[in-house]
Amino acid sequence: MTDVKPVLRLEGIVKTFPGVRALDGLSFDVLPGEVHALMGENGAGKSTSMKVLGGIYQPDEGAIIMGDEQVVMNGPLEAKAKGIVFIHQELSLAEELSVAENIYLGELPRKSFGRVDWALLYERTDAILKKLKVGFNARTRVGDLSIANQQMVEIARALTVDAKAVIFDEPTASLTDAEKVVLFDVIADLQAEGVGIIYISHRMEEIFKITDRITVLRDGQYVGTVETKNTDEERVTQMMIGRKLDLSRNVSHHELGNVALEVRGLSCGKLYSDVSFEVRRGEVLGFYGLVGAGRTEIAETLFGLREPSAGQILLDGEEVRISSPADAIARGISLVPEDRKGQGLVLGMNCRDNMTLPQVDDLKAGPFMAEGAEVAIFDQYRDKLDIRTPGWKQRVGNLSGGNQQKIVIGKWLSMHPNVLIVDEPTRGIDVGSKSEIHKLLRGLAAQGYAVIVISSEMPEVLHVSDRIVAMYSGRVMRTFTSEEVTEDNLIQAISGLTDDRAA
Ligand SMILES: Nc1ncnc2c1ncn2[C@@H]1O[C@H](COP(=O)(O)OP(=O)(O)OP(=O)(O)O)[C@@H](O)[C@H]1O
Ligand SMILES: [Mg+2]
Repeated sequence: MTDVKPVLRLEGIVKTFPGVRALDGLSFDVLPGEVHALMGENGAGKSTSMKVLGGIYQPDEGAIIMGDEQVVMNGPLEAKAKGIVFIHQELSLAEELSVAENIYLGELPRKSFGRVDWALLYERTDAILKKLKVGFNARTRVGDLSIANQQMVEIARALTVDAKAVIFDEPTASLTDAEKVVLFDVIADLQAEGVGIIYISHRMEEIFKITDRITVLRDGQYVGTVETKNTDEERVTQMMIGRKLDLSRNVSHHELGNVALEVRGLSCGKLYSDVSFEVRRGEVLGFYGLVGAGRTEIAETLFGLREPSAGQILLDGEEVRISSPADAIARGISLVPEDRKGQGLVLGMNCRDNMTLPQVDDLKAGPFMAEGAEVAIFDQYRDKLDIRTPGWKQRVGNLSGGNQQKIVIGKWLSMHPNVLIVDEPTRGIDVGSKSEIHKLLRGLAAQGYAVIVISSEMPEVLHVSDRIVAMYSGRVMRTFTSEEVTEDNLIQAISGLTDDRAA
């Protein structure tokens, strides 16, 4: 690999924001046809470095080299013109416009007299969409697409450019397994064309499956670059967080309390049917299954967002009807939603206000108390969850992705719920913080909360759960205790293959 000329090189990049040294001398290069992973904890500076490369931020110091020349990216369009394509961590699409308009925004094909050539636009777009094997077309309104499909639109947009380097910033965070396969195919095609790929992800399996080299950042500093085939998860983790992690399975040490929540024969139209389970105080109940198995919909029902078509919900042994989120909160049920952007956070608001949002009315009781009380809550959960921010006044939109997720978790924890439901709690969260959040969830159970964890990551459910409900296509296939569950029987259950002990 040594005599191949890199497609680009970053040299000694420094970038500061008020109170934060986000990048402190980052250098690495990307070779043609390689997939180069960028790894590091939440807030390490991964997205910032790519925003510098993509012309969104100007570096305070350092240089970007392409070919033999130093280049300056005076904005995203200039970067794009130089062949740098950036697929963002946070989606940046115009919801009101069609898929085709989003893909060719600013570059719509035109006929004479400047009128948009719609036929050509749709034809070109559909050709790209066909490659991506998606289930929507050029005319679909972007706002009507799922987050995963919106992500595919971003990827489609990248394919319209004659790219030298393509940056994927956590592209798989909301993709299904089938969509991931398509994405990896797209990446392989780009590689074959000699494009350099920069790939940011917290998911080790992916990193070890598709990348050639890994560059690690810690607190804005360059730690090192290693060849993927010469390293392993443990060593990369150590580079990222400077210590080893305990990734063993959970063993419960505390006593379980009474049943906090019981669900009997719960159904919701075609989404799920005849679902029964219980969760005790002191217990973490995991829900595992493929996307579309009905797990999120069950959570939404318990949180008053969906009305069940049949069945019963019992809290502390008493049947209840939960007709709205306010109702759920009043009864001590909290839901940390899957999509933090849409449902969890107000990006323009500061950290403290986001965290105390659901309790603003309670805290307002005394006008002079409120400020102090809110800051105290923020401080407490910042420490508990290790939220990296220069202070509570920071806009949540300026935090790194993982730290945003921690704010959402803090917000619901600070309500002291009896039943805490977390949907994909560590999506986009680095390994170190992930294990902190797992510990935190275990700790909450130990304190007597009933905790429900919905996850698509098998190591996660295995690690945190006392028992695991395996779902397939809207049904509970089997409930496992942590003693009897294995990776094999769990996969079998969520694939709809039951054995004779199936529930
Ligand atoms: N526009 C901004 N204003 C102020 N601070 C910022 C801004 N953008 C990033 N930061 C800070 O810079 C640091 C690096 O953030 P960055 O988004 O690059 O992290 P990351 O490595 O991408 O993390 P994650 O894995 O959570 O996405 C963080 O401390 C973040 O809060
Ligand atoms: Mg990021």
